[in-house]
Amino acid sequence: MFKRIYFWIDERLDIHDYIKKDVLDKPIPKGLNLSYCFGGITFFLFLMLASTGYFMAIYYVPSPLQAYDVVDYITYEVSLGYVIRGVHHWSANLMVVTIFLHMIRVYIYGAYKNPREINWITGVLLFCLVMAFGFTGYLLPWDQKAYWATKVGTSMMGTVPVVGEYALKILRGGTKLGALTLARFYAFHVIFLPITTVILLIGHFLMIRRQGISKPL
Ligand code: HEM
Repeated sequence: MFKRIYFWIDERLDIHDYIKKDVLDKPIPKGLNLSYCFGGITFFLFLMLASTGYFMAIYYVPSPLQAYDVVDYITYEVSLGYVIRGVHHWSANLMVVTIFLHMIRVYIYGAYKNPREINWITGVLLFCLVMAFGFTGYLLPWDQKAYWATKVGTSMMGTVPVVGEYALKILRGGTKLGALTLARFYAFHVIFLPITTVILLIGHFLMIRRQGISKPL
């Protein structure tokens, strides 16, 4: 059945040769070990986060009056809502672990060196984006923990010399944490951060394709 659909599409778009030669049949160096999987696992977790996030966005309302109840509704009323939310929660936590392990692997194997410096830099930016996903997502349930954690986090940013006060106002949408902050964090979490991440990931993967995976030590 799937094969027939695949060949039906191939007849029209001629994708078979491209997928076989350019996507699947790329040679990799001999002797790779499990530590080379962490980048792929991080990508898999990102896909899980995006797909579960889509489902939650169907119900979520970024308003202080409704956010808490809506998250409660997703968890206890929507069928399989607790699974979707649970997978989102655990994927987010695991992704922080796997991205760290991926970075450590790249560092230990010296894979950041010539000619892969630009890929390391896109990686560092991706790391910052993953942290920003966590920070903005934490506020969305709008419970006490979320409110006070964000209050402390944004206040810390406010202590940065010169730009701190300005950054705090941009983040909170004013001096106080409230409806504008929630709307802003939601927009960052579901629009700005995902789009930037996808663009950087495309760059990351194209560079891996061009330079190949580095050889083991
Ligand atoms: C969303 C985050 C990220 C994803 C999905 C991702 C994905 C991947 C994948 C699938 C690979 C090839 C397989 C492997 O080496 O594991 C790779 C390679 C690489 N990544 Fe990442 N990565 C991410 C973040 C990072 C970070 C934070 C850094 C470093 C600061 C980084 C630097 C590199 C480098 C330099 C390579 C080439 C390694 C080599 O050729 O041996 N990446 N990445």
